[in-house]
Formats: sequence, C-alpha cells, structure tokens
Amino acid sequence: MKIPRGRYFATTSELLRLLVDTAFFFNRDIHEMESELLDSTMSELTHGQPFIFVPSFRIGLFYTLKFLSARDSSRTQVLTTSITIPDAINAIKLNGLEARFIEMDEESHGVNIGELESALSGNTLAVVLTHLSGHISDEYEIIYKKCQQLGIIVIEDFSQAFGNSQSLKYADISIGSLSTGKTVSTLVGGIITSSNITFIDGVSKFKKINEKQNSIQRSMIFFQIIDSLKINFLCNRYIFSTLTYYALMVFKRIFPSSYSKLEQARTITRAINQDRFFENSFTKRDQFPDFFFFKLSRGQLKLYRQMLERLRVGNTKRAEVFNDFLNGLTQVAKDSIPKGFTKNTNNTYYHIPIKTNGRKLEIQNKFFEQGVDISSYGLPMCHSYFANQKLTITEEIKNQTLFIPLNEFSTPQDIKKVTLAMNNIYKQENEISANSLAPSSGK
Ligand SMILES: Cc1ncc(COP(=O)(O)O)c(C=O)c1O
Repeated sequence: MKIPRGRYFATTSELLRLLVDTAFFFNRDIHEMESELLDSTMSELTHGQPFIFVPSFRIGLFYTLKFLSARDSSRTQVLTTSITIPDAINAIKLNGLEARFIEMDEESHGVNIGELESALSGNTLAVVLTHLSGHISDEYEIIYKKCQQLGIIVIEDFSQAFGNSQSLKYADISIGSLSTGKTVSTLVGGIITSSNITFIDGVSKFKKINEKQNSIQRSMIFFQIIDSLKINFLCNRYIFSTLTYYALMVFKRIFPSSYSKLEQARTITRAINQDRFFENSFTKRDQFPDFFFFKLSRGQLKLYRQMLERLRVGNTKRAEVFNDFLNGLTQVAKDSIPKGFTKNTNNTYYHIPIKTNGRKLEIQNKFFEQGVDISSYGLPMCHSYFANQKLTITEEIKNQTLFIPLNEFSTPQDIKKVTLAMNNIYKQENEISANSLAPSSGK
C-alpha cells in the first residue's frame, strides 16, 4: 500500500449528511442545536469554559481585538508569530493596530519565549500564541504570568490543538478555527472561549450585530463539501495506491515544483466568490467582506457534534501511532523530530514534523520513491507580505519542515512502512552530511 500525505477528518458519510442538510434545511432554526452542544463542547473542548461560535478564526480574532482595543485604546501593538493565515494580520490591521512579528522556536514551532519577553511593552495590547501541529510549549506559563503582570492579554490560536490538555491554560482568550481539515470542523467556522465571561459577552455583542446566514456561506459549504469528498476519495487507501499515487508521479515529473507546493492549492473555492478566503495567499483588505459574517448553520453544527464525539479517541489514537513510530526509529531519524514533539505530553499530533536541514526536496522525493507521499506547512509566512524583516528560524520552519503522514487511520503496516522509509532516508542523509564534512583526501 502507498501512503497519502494526509486526509481530512470528516468522513464521507458525514459530508453527505451535511450536503443534504445544507440543501434542504439551511435556514432552520439553530438555537436548539446550539444548546444541545453546550455540555459536549464544555467537556471535550473548552474545559468547562463558556464559548461562542463565530464564522471563522479570522473573524473571531477580529471581534476579539475590536473588543480589547475598545477596552484599552492606549495600547496599539499585537505580537504574533508569522506562520498563520494572512487574514489574521488583516484582523489586527483592520482594527487600527500594529502587528509585530516575533521569531519562532525550532523545537516547538511556537514563539521564541526570550524574544517575545523582550518585545513586551506598555504599548502591547495582546500576544497571539499559535500552537502549530498540535504541540503547546510548557514555557507559555512564564509568558502568561509576565503578561498578566503587565496587563497584556494572551490570545491563543488552538485550531491545531483541539483537546490538548495544555490548551486554554495559559491564555485569556482561546480562538479555534473549525475550517476543513481540522480535527473538529464545520468546514467554515470558528469558536471562541474564555474563563472570563466579560470577554465572551464583549465579543458576543459584535457577533450579534454582524452575523446572519447568507447565500455565499451556503455556496462555500457546498464547495468545501465537494473539495473534502474529492480529497477523501483520492486519499482512500485503495484509490491512492492504485490511482492517485501514479497520477501524482506523472504530475511530479511534469511540474516538479508544483508537486512540492500542492498543499497550498485551493482553486475550486476561488471560483465561487472571487475571494481568497480559503487560500493562504496574501490579500490586502480595506475591510472584511460582508459575507464573512455569518451564523453557523444547523448542518454545520451537526457535523461539529459528530466530530466532537470522536475527538478524544482520535487524539489518543494519534498519540499511540506516534509512539509506535518513534519506537521504531533509529537515533539519527529520531533526532530530526523537533524536541518539543518527542515529549509525550501537551500534543495532539495534528502533524508530526521532521527537520530536513536544507534538503527538503530531496527528502520529499526519497519518501515518494518509497511509496510515501509527504507534505509541509500550507500556512504562509505573513512577515514576507506585511513586514520587511528577516526571521531565520521561522523561514527554516516553513521551508524545511515535512510532515510524517501518520494519523489515527494508519494501520500497523503503514507505521512500519513509514518508519522503514524514514530510517533509510536519514541513514543516507547522515552519510551525505558526513561525506561533505570529511576532509578531502590529500593529493
Ligand atoms: C493555526 C490556524 N489558524 C487559523 C486557521 C484558519 O482560520 P479560519 O477559520 O479563519 O479559516 C488555520 C487553518 O488553516 C490554522 O491552521
């Protein structure tokens, strides 16, 4: 069997149910559904904290910053890391605030704690901590305490860390994206939670004024369903092994550079609204378009409920799969995993990142030759659009990370195959770097 680079977590039958719901019951009252979700959301996702649904992470951040800057207009700076969606930066700027990019940490894929600490000032309104790949650094406790002393609000993006026991601990407000591909999803959507009810009430005011269901939301859901069904089909283990892998092989021969950027392609959704909502490319905005502000539909909330029910099992299974994988690795191969990710806590294993030390394309090709399709961060580096700045570690993380394609659907044979491929490749890589370091024989 060949191994696909990943798959979405919503199943084909759940997507088909959403299709029917969106076609026939789109405008049905959603209040009943929302109250049904109260207990399960608080027990599985928000650790007992109150929450509200929002149309997306970016709009959740936009509302949150609107509320925070109205509360304290003397502070105008928001500190963030660069690997995120460009509309997160637009959400900062559209509130009249300044985004300042802080360097990342190569072992946690979070923010560099030291650099963040020294950037905190009397002008800092908020810090945004993005937990990439599911890992949350222990050291955020230090930052959280420092921010509390300085009156700075910590906002956390926990989109990739749903169910992580460390989530919500070191943040005043946590915002998650429920977009396609997340472990809990409404295909387009988001959630905000805080232990401070004043924050939730403050943000809810903007939600009430702005949100209503609209026809573009409906078409976005339809197209996201089609997109997800397509991925589910192409990444089905049998289809992938007999068809997709070979189609990719041809594609790779003809367009070698496009193959390595496949994770960024989202062309269907652009066709529906001419907006780049689902693309991760830079869009300069004077305001967010009206259709960005909508209430989640009944079908979306039903999908959310189904996925929430299996979140805990999925997280546990991914941790087990990761352990089996790690146990089979040679030391050289193990060393390529950022250290934060090898600890067995604070992780939902949304991705399993590996470092490639300047040889990403070669390593990606070697995995492919061994029947393992492997990809990288689809999120872009926002500092390259919004700031004239050099962030060496951030650029290294973005350009030199690959993700091991194992997840809760992986079989013991898949784990074995990927482990073997990884051991072989890193053995060869080790030899290549040893040879390049060896002194040339004297002639
Ligand atoms: C860390 C992170 N933040 C935010 C988003 C997207 O948020 P939105 O719901 O605005 O599409 C994603 C999705 O790709 C993400 O991975």
